Formats: sequence, C-alpha cells, structure tokens
Amino acid sequence: MSPTTEHSYALTDRSANQVIIVANRLPVRQVEQDDGTMDWQTSPGGLVAAVKPAMHDQNLTWVGWAGGEGQSSPMSVDGIELIPVALSKTELANHYDGMSNGTLWPLYHDRAGPVEFHRTWFDGYRQVNDKFATAVADAAEPNAVVWIHDYQLQLVPGMLRERRPDLRIGFFLHIPFPPSELFIQLPWREAITRGILGSDLIGFQTASGAANFRRVAAELGVATREGSQRLRIDDRTIEIAAFPIGIDTDRYEKAARSDDVEDRARDLRARLGQPQTVLLGVDRLDYTKGIDVRLRAFLELLADGRLSSSHVTMIQVAEPSRDNVDAYINLRGRVEQLVGEINGDFGRVGFPVVHYIHQTHGFEDLLSLYRAADVMLVTPFADGMNLVAKEYVATRYDYTGSLVLSQFAGAAHELTDALTVNPYDIDAMKNAIASAIEMSPTEKQIRMQSLRLAVSNNTAPDWAASFLEKLGARAVATRPD
Ligand code: G6P
Repeated sequence: MSPTTEHSYALTDRSANQVIIVANRLPVRQVEQDDGTMDWQTSPGGLVAAVKPAMHDQNLTWVGWAGGEGQSSPMSVDGIELIPVALSKTELANHYDGMSNGTLWPLYHDRAGPVEFHRTWFDGYRQVNDKFATAVADAAEPNAVVWIHDYQLQLVPGMLRERRPDLRIGFFLHIPFPPSELFIQLPWREAITRGILGSDLIGFQTASGAANFRRVAAELGVATREGSQRLRIDDRTIEIAAFPIGIDTDRYEKAARSDDVEDRARDLRARLGQPQTVLLGVDRLDYTKGIDVRLRAFLELLADGRLSSSHVTMIQVAEPSRDNVDAYINLRGRVEQLVGEINGDFGRVGFPVVHYIHQTHGFEDLLSLYRAADVMLVTPFADGMNLVAKEYVATRYDYTGSLVLSQFAGAAHELTDALTVNPYDIDAMKNAIASAIEMSPTEKQIRMQSLRLAVSNNTAPDWAASFLEKLGARAVATRPD
C-alpha cells in the first residue's frame, strides 16, 4: 500500500522501546477457565493482529476501557501490558452513548442517523478523553510512540502533547472524516480539530477523509497548509495521509480452507434446503449499514417475480450493538418488521426466505457463513472501510462468489471489481443483486481474482507497519537533536 505522503524516511536507531496503543476498548475479554475462575484473553484478530507483527523488539502497551463499569488493575496478557481506564455510568452515558455514538458517529457518517448536540455530552467526552490522556502520560516511557485510535478519543492527542511533549503521537480515524459543510455544524469543531492536531501524524481511511480534514483545519484558521499533504500549527509540521486499513488475509484464508469450516458451510446449505443461491449480509446492527434498504430491495425482487423464494435464500446477521442508543433501538424494530414481512409474504412452513440472526458470531461461524454464501451484500450508506467485504474476499480462495458493494464504503476505492452500487438507489440495488446472482462463473472468477489481489496487497500488518514506521521516522525527522 502507498500512503499518500510526499516523503518517506528510514527508521533510525532512535526508535522508541515502547509503543502505546490507545483505543476506546481494550483488546481483551473475560473467559471462564476449566477450574471455573475467570481470566482475561486477548481477542484474536483486529488491531492486535495488525500491530504485533509491526513491533521491532519494542514493548507493547495498550490503554483502553475494559467494558462495563468500575475498576480493573493493569495486567499483562499475551505479552501486552494492558492499562484499563475505568468509566462510571455517567461517563459512559455522556462519552460513549452520547457524544461518541449520538453526535459524532451519525455526523461523520453523513447524517445517516439523527444527530444530537448536548453540552453535557461534550463535557463528559472531554472528561473521559482527559482520563485516557492521564493514563497514557503516566504509563509512557520517555520518547515513547503513542498511537491513538478513532472518534471516541479525538481530544487525546492535544491533551497528551501538553503533558508530554517528548512523545511521538499518531492518530488514526477508522470512520469517515466528513466534508467541511457537515463538520462545521459541530459546536465543538475547533476543540476537536485542535485535539487531533496534537499529533505528529494523522491517518485516515481514504484520501478524501484526509483532504476533508486539511480543509477544515485551514478554514477554521486552526492550522495553515504546508504543501499539499501537511499542516502547520505553532512550530510543528503535521503529516496528514490516507492509510487504508486491511485484514489479516492469511488468517482468513487458512481458516477458510480448513475441513471444519468447509463441513460447516456444506451443512449450512443443506439445512437451508439446498437453495440455488444464498445471499448474505453480516453487519453490526447499525443504521449506517443499509440493512433495511437491502431487505427492501430483496422484498421487491421477490414481489416483482425477478427472484423466486424456492431458489434464493438470504441470511442477515445483525450483531447487537450500542443498544442503549435510541436510533439503534428504532433500527432494530424496522429491520425485524421487514424480515417478518418478507417471510410472511414469501416463506413456507419450515422454509423462511430470510434467516435473521441478532447475535454475535465467533470466527469459525463467520467463516462458514462466508463460505456458504454465493453473494455477499455490503451496502452501507457511509463506512470508513468495511472489513466484512475484505473478509469475504479473503475466504474465496477458489474464486467463486460475488460481492455487491456500496460505493460509499472506503473499501470501494480498492475493491473496484465488485458490483458497486449506490445504496440510496433501490432500483440500482435490485439490479446489482440480480446481476450478482445471474453472473457467469467466468466473470465471477475474473472479478474475484482482482478483488483477492487488492485484499492481499494491503493487509492489516502492512497497514500498522506503514503507519508506525512513518510515525517513528517522522518524529525523528522533525525533532532537533
Ligand atoms: C466501529 C468503530 C470502532 C468501534 C466499533 C464497534 O468499527 O470505528 O471504534 O469499536 O465500531 O463499536 P463499539 O461501540 O461496540 O465499540
């Protein structure tokens, strides 16, 4: 992958011994041991799998929320020092449910859901960001590299720089950064922009996210442009670039080839009654994902007679998410009503047309679903990247299957041989689903070859290594001896 920056620097022997990842969640969960006691385990995949291979004999420390309320002590799991940040009920309500998921999430996703602005939410957001910054400032060795993640923690870079100017600070936004016209609606637009600009390196999923941020910072007068990729604030130059995130391709492909996953996929199709075509959607139950429009398109295709319920079955996995937030509760109602409508109108006893599962799935279960599906539907209204699209592609080692992909997912920039679709255009969505089903095996194969090349050319470890190398090298290059 090639970040859109003008220069590259080699790592020097001044690289730090400690790398600190700061993310809203710690990458661990509590699991029951054989003797009945509870212990922590790192969640496989995700950021951990991306970052660990990028370490150069450095110590990895992770600062994040351990889930739930209340205190846990620092611990070491799988060689990672974990520092939990405890959050109270009120802090969670204002920072997580409120400002993060009731204000920033819908605003940054093109107002796909209702956006609310509340000063109490922002106060809670600042308070929690301050807790994270304090935890990092206390844990960081001199000159450590700190990499802060995502929209929940945008004030942390600025707060941290004030306390610890010796640190090299990077920030990566996993979700879209919106166009200026949307962002400037935010009453706290300056504070957030300044917060992010506490970093030495700022990464976005796409070039347009990076361009939007540069424009906002310049228009608000918070920083000045320096060349086409950089901003200047006070006496510092900050690099702003696109670093599109990938997946751990080998892990997905290896598991997909296993007998266990193949058996499960075969068994799944048998239990569905051996339909000619299985359509699949896998999403968090989130209004940005376009689950309702996708179901409506499927309903209309059945009603128009373009698809037959005896040939086509759809599986929609909607993982529970943020279920204290009203917009998520309302979406659940809409989706479940549509599923009921489709099955009511077109199902037969013992053969529903849509199988809707509102549960979290484990890795192997997910893989067997990907392997059982002929058509993968990824149709968000807005999405930073969408890794489900890449995961599906990684499991199609036999060049079968087709991908219908929203043009508004970051992944669409790389997966150009998917059937791209505007999710706001229901007729286009219907046509894309029908084309995916009717596509010849040869065309599927040609498209899948190109999709697989794109996915394997930019893996999660590539992504983390390129960001961390740029961050380490940049700080050395801009810091006087
Ligand atoms: C998105 C965000 C992440 C977030 C994840 C799950 O991918 O970019 O920061 O962790 O959704 O959402 P949750 O609210 O459960 O952490």
